[in-house]
Amino acid sequence: MSPARIVIAYFSPTGGTKKVALALKESFAAALPSTVNAPGLTLKLPTSPVTTFNCLSVKSRHKDLQLTPNDLFVLAYPVYFGRMPWALSDWPALQGNGASALVVSVYGNRAIEDGERETMALLQDHGFKVVGAIEAIAEHSQERTLAQGRPDAADIADLKAIAAQVVNAYRQGLKAYDFDRTTELKAPGKAPAVPRILERSQCDDCGRCALLCPMQIINPETFEVPEDKAAMCMGCRACMAVCKMGCRGLPEPVLKAVAARMAQIKTANSARKPNVLKLA
Ligand SMILES: Cc1cc2nc3c(=O)[nH]c(=O)nc-3n(C[C@H](O)[C@H](O)[C@H](O)COP(=O)(O)O)c2cc1C
Ligand code: SF4
Ligand code: SF4
Repeated sequence: MSPARIVIAYFSPTGGTKKVALALKESFAAALPSTVNAPGLTLKLPTSPVTTFNCLSVKSRHKDLQLTPNDLFVLAYPVYFGRMPWALSDWPALQGNGASALVVSVYGNRAIEDGERETMALLQDHGFKVVGAIEAIAEHSQERTLAQGRPDAADIADLKAIAAQVVNAYRQGLKAYDFDRTTELKAPGKAPAVPRILERSQCDDCGRCALLCPMQIINPETFEVPEDKAAMCMGCRACMAVCKMGCRGLPEPVLKAVAARMAQIKTANSARKPNVLKLA
């Protein structure tokens, strides 16, 4: 039997994870039947069984999201310093109710490290049966020249084939995926600095940065992160990506330090890494 619904949630501060999620949406929809057959007639389903859910904002993660045992839930997240974005730990409205779940780790061609098993544990704690993982590449959001342009056409073709494999495996009955829940996770990474308004005169007080920050740490009047909340910043850059005025960013010396660190990472990870499907 095919999954009744496939719900793809994506957490995408700068758009790379969303690209992977949307490619998967299209591919899952192509792999699932869009019609039902009754004796003598074929009926087109009124709505697609594949939907997406943007889980970036705190508000979205407080919105009721109930799955049922015949659903497949797909969570696409970006890897940060080999871990899951810690904002995802705060998702009170997510209820698995025994649905199957697949973790999609989107990373910038360096490494996933503990992000995958951490996200699997999160989904298990929310009542899902974790059945596997997809590892996909997107442009590195700290250093755009690493994995530049990915996911590209070849990645989209990979994701299409992967989605078809998942649907086939689901029909045959997916087993729970065995992963390590006991080894201590690596220490969380530290954002190089908190983004701030670099050009006050250009800010039009639209408030989009404060609204969208997945940690809700941007003051909605000053649009700055107060000192006592700076340690909560994940360095995700959602506030920079959403600023249409382009006045939000990291100071020049910080950018130089990030570029120097990333130059070494880039050299060590110049070979193209593949998209991977892992099932039990
Ligand atoms: C603070 C930060 C830490 C990151 N850490 C890693 C990492 O450990 N490994 C990796 O391969 N990519 C890493 N990346 C790259 C992102 O995982 C990758 O670019 C992802 O596609 C970003 O998702 P988004 O475009 O949806 O925001 C990091 C990016 C940021 C901003
Ligand atoms: S303040 Fe930090 S956590 Fe909030 S959106 Fe900006 S980079 Fe992300
Ligand atoms: S998104 Fe940019 S323009 Fe809008 S309030 Fe924030 S810093 Fe100002």
